[in-house]
Amino acid sequence: MAEFKTILIDKKEGVTIITFNRPEQRNAMSPQLHRDMYAALNELRYDKETRVIILTGAGPSFCAGQDLKQYFLEMDSQPQSVRDEVRRLSKLWRNELIRTMPQPVIAMINGWCFGGGFTIVTASDIAIAAEDATFGLSEVNFGHFPGGEVTIVLTEHLQPKHGLFYALTGKTFTAKEAERIGLITKAVPRTDLEKETMAIAQDLVEKDPIALKAVKEAWYYTFYSPPEVAYEISGLISQRVTQQHGGRPGIQQFREKKYQPGLGAYKWEK
Ligand code: COA
Repeated sequence: MAEFKTILIDKKEGVTIITFNRPEQRNAMSPQLHRDMYAALNELRYDKETRVIILTGAGPSFCAGQDLKQYFLEMDSQPQSVRDEVRRLSKLWRNELIRTMPQPVIAMINGWCFGGGFTIVTASDIAIAAEDATFGLSEVNFGHFPGGEVTIVLTEHLQPKHGLFYALTGKTFTAKEAERIGLITKAVPRTDLEKETMAIAQDLVEKDPIALKAVKEAWYYTFYSPPEVAYEISGLISQRVTQQHGGRPGIQQFREKKYQPGLGAYKWEK
């Protein structure tokens, strides 16, 4: 795996943890971080050892949003080609790559999560936060608004009375509130954050990766397509899953009374 300047990668028993590693800047997303995340995710999607990905932050912050100095102030004086490159990668890894990764991606939110940091949470398939993590759409506080991809992901994930309230007031909110408004999956006590996230990851490692990839594909295609198109795509994914398995091994094992699908996963060929 390539070496990266702004992220750490740690692989263990099928689970790959990516840690945003700019703690002194509260893991704000610099142009280099966007380059690193784009390259890392592109490499990991083909990595057979990576069955689940966890995204988290070093130090007291998950992600303090875009780097207000490097991504905005310093970029304003960069040539158009550099601005285009960085903005493209910034959008791609959060709004496209994570969703289309074959592996499930879990955001493990360990602290501050502001502005653009929300897009990492919404792009991830599952989001678990420490109860004392703090969320905020702070853009209005510096005379701006949650722009570009932040607006898009918020309108997809939040009800207007929640999204507009927090975007207009810039007020911070707790992980419990994030759970209530559907921004995250679950808030857990800080002491349990790693344990609970790893338990979910390990459960997913035991599941058939062909099925996990299909769940994500069907979900996102259905979300973004008109119903009749989504239905057709779902049918095609279903055919492909059966072909890839060379039949329906999970249902065969059920017929042979080897397990109960309602209560656990079948044993798939590794
Ligand atoms: N962009 C660039 N630098 C940032 C940053 C960001 N989004 N967030 C924090 N930093 C930097 C600070 O400038 C400071 O750098 P310095 O030590 O060189 O002065 C360092 O990180 C620590 O910040 P500090 O404010 O002292 O830490 P804190 O733990 O007390 O507070 C925050 C953390 C996240 C509440 C606060 O830094 C903050 O409000 N950041 C901006 C968040 C934001 O509006 N994000 C939206 C961007 S789209």
